[in-house]
Amino acid sequence: RIPEPGVVVIFGASGDLTKRKLLPALFHLEQAGLLPEKIRIVGVARRDLGDSFAKDMRAGILEFGGVTEEDPKLESFIAKVSYHAMNFDDDGGYEALKEKLAEYDKEVGTKGNRLFYLAVAPEYFSDIVDHLGKHGMAKSEEGAVRVIIEKPFGHDLESARALNADISKVFEEQQIFRIDHYLGKETVQNVLVFRFANGIFEPIWNRNYIDNVQITAAESIGIEGRGPFYEKAGATRDILQNHLMEVLSFVTMEPPVSFEADAVRQEKLKVWKAIQPIKEEDTVRGQYGPGTVGGKEAIGYRQEDRVSPESQTETFAAVKLEIDNWRWAGVPIYIRAGKRLAKRVTEVTVQFKQPPMLLFNKAAAGPCGQIQPNLITMRIQPDEGISLRFGAKLPSPDMTVCPVVMDFKYSQAFGTNTANGYERLLLDAMLGDGTLFAHRDGVEVTWELFTPLLEAWTKTKQDFPNYDSGSWGPKASDDLLKRDGRKWQKL
Ligand code: BG6
Repeated sequence: RIPEPGVVVIFGASGDLTKRKLLPALFHLEQAGLLPEKIRIVGVARRDLGDSFAKDMRAGILEFGGVTEEDPKLESFIAKVSYHAMNFDDDGGYEALKEKLAEYDKEVGTKGNRLFYLAVAPEYFSDIVDHLGKHGMAKSEEGAVRVIIEKPFGHDLESARALNADISKVFEEQQIFRIDHYLGKETVQNVLVFRFANGIFEPIWNRNYIDNVQITAAESIGIEGRGPFYEKAGATRDILQNHLMEVLSFVTMEPPVSFEADAVRQEKLKVWKAIQPIKEEDTVRGQYGPGTVGGKEAIGYRQEDRVSPESQTETFAAVKLEIDNWRWAGVPIYIRAGKRLAKRVTEVTVQFKQPPMLLFNKAAAGPCGQIQPNLITMRIQPDEGISLRFGAKLPSPDMTVCPVVMDFKYSQAFGTNTANGYERLLLDAMLGDGTLFAHRDGVEVTWELFTPLLEAWTKTKQDFPNYDSGSWGPKASDDLLKRDGRKWQKL
């Protein structure tokens, strides 16, 4: 489906996200013929950028979108991009923007359809939304008005509730699209396809067969100059409460009755609500010190620009979760995320129980050691794919079993994909489909889960740094699983 004509208005357009992700994604949609002919894209920010904005966006599309200068659609697309300088609290600026949009309606035929994208720091969300309401821009007689909000949706439960309340004063819930870019990733969506479009996995996807689930989002990069943001966020607020909880919901939820926003949302909510309160002793936090990543020396977190030399912010977090429902009771779900780890990899591993009796490899020694449990690994990124590990007989005169892997790789099966995840989400928002977006109640439930932990953590000082850049995090993270007789899968 191609959306109706309309205007995409990006607040905070001078920031990195617009250049690196949003404009390349919009251009990918244009290339695929998925954008309406009558579309305009307006960047809004404080600085007076004028024409240089469109040029800068063009450069972003080339650099981050895998696009070449010769692309036949590039120039006509760039001609649809314009810029509007204003302060986010300036009434005059909103009036001028409103006029500009009305002109597009008249001249281009954008029919009153608006998609406002708030790619701004969270402290501006409420203010911008409030002004859009005040200036009569939250509704349109002719078309549909929608608003996309970037994470973080609040800092804790209370601020998330306050933000939701502010936004809902101006917009109806079905106009609000809270973006979590993990839901735009093909491989995250594929978790649902893997589970619910195949007959053979779902019957064993439960406590009778699964021993534990592990979800890791490891990054080799540090905080990339985002000191002031990260100091307030930390790994738990930045990744666990949102991205990892979204992935976890897809891995663990019950099959929805349909693939529609409400049906999916209900199932996600149900599984999040079944997660037991997190016990502090089931968690580990870490902060990176100096080290070597990918052969290069890296500084410690406390040495990063605009980070306190005594910072207590965690750049690594590991948490053991328990989902108390019929499907998952007793199956530990271990999640972890961290910066400056040994490599960039986001992966879900589902480890199955061993057969009730081991006929083979009774001696631990031998070429393949003890029999390894079956493992389904869903590689979210990079090298996207899914693999199944099972035991096979080593060609030899005895019955030695060795682990082997059946491997599905996206790139081999479907070719390389240059999409960054925002394509699908921008398109869905333009179409008014909220299935792959975070919802008000879901945001609050996940904050309800993490807020007590974050508060408890503020009460004790940690001896940071406690892991070297380029490692797999603090030793305590390995101990968390060792305690249960398990270990993190090798990534
Ligand atoms: C963002 C976080 O939401 O996700 C960043 O704020 C993080 O700190 C990024 O680097 C990771 O996204 P991806 O798509 O590279 O896994």
